[in-house]
Amino acid sequence: MKKIRLGVNIDHVATVRNARGENYPSPLRAALLAEKSGADSITIHLREDRRHINELDLKLIKSKLKIPLNLEIAATNEMLRIALKRKPPFICIVPEKRQEVTTEGGLNLKFKRNFLKKLIMKLKKNKSRVSLFIEPNKADIQEAKILNADCVEIHTGKFCNLINKNKKFHKEIKKIKEIVKIGNDLGLEVHAGHGLTYKSAKILSKVPGIKEFNIGHFLIGESIFEGLKTTIKKFRKIIR
Ligand code: PXP
Repeated sequence: MKKIRLGVNIDHVATVRNARGENYPSPLRAALLAEKSGADSITIHLREDRRHINELDLKLIKSKLKIPLNLEIAATNEMLRIALKRKPPFICIVPEKRQEVTTEGGLNLKFKRNFLKKLIMKLKKNKSRVSLFIEPNKADIQEAKILNADCVEIHTGKFCNLINKNKKFHKEIKKIKEIVKIGNDLGLEVHAGHGLTYKSAKILSKVPGIKEFNIGHFLIGESIFEGLKTTIKKFRKIIR
């Protein structure tokens, strides 16, 4: 049986909480329930503008969780300082623009290259596993290896959009397959995430060599109807 790990992104529990400025629903409660329901890791994105997860969430979740916490951060000095202090076992470096609704694309690895290299080195020295969120292309996965990342997470947004719109996706999945293979051959652990639903996760789970999916928006949305526990169990069944 193939074993793809399921990372559950709970940012949108904090989005709902923040919409009313209350202290509920609790991201910590969601993280602990996801853990109990079979999540392999919990992902949170601490954004520069703190629009969902905040530093107190990070502190509480990190201290209570038994499965690994995957912290998504932008490549900035502020986030480096926080990550070094909190020591999450997994870190994923993502691009970030203030105006975007969600993470719109993969990292530009040529931009701030030296800073990225230093950041990765420091985080790894601090015992965090470091992943880079990239577009599925050859140049970026090769660059991720040169930068000495442990893993890459392939941005699946374009692939998922094609699926959602019932458009042809074979070219896109072929590209993803090639990039996963290149990543594995380079010795990188390859993950996938962004926009995944039951349908797109099922198709993508057939691509050999992907070790981890990180899923948030659809999973939290579906939980409104089915509950977090049932939704996580369904995803686990689909991807394994
Ligand atoms: N992986 C990364 C690196 C992300 O930035 C996001 C979005 O925060 C996700 C996965 C999850 O995407 P979605 O919420 O669309 O499932």
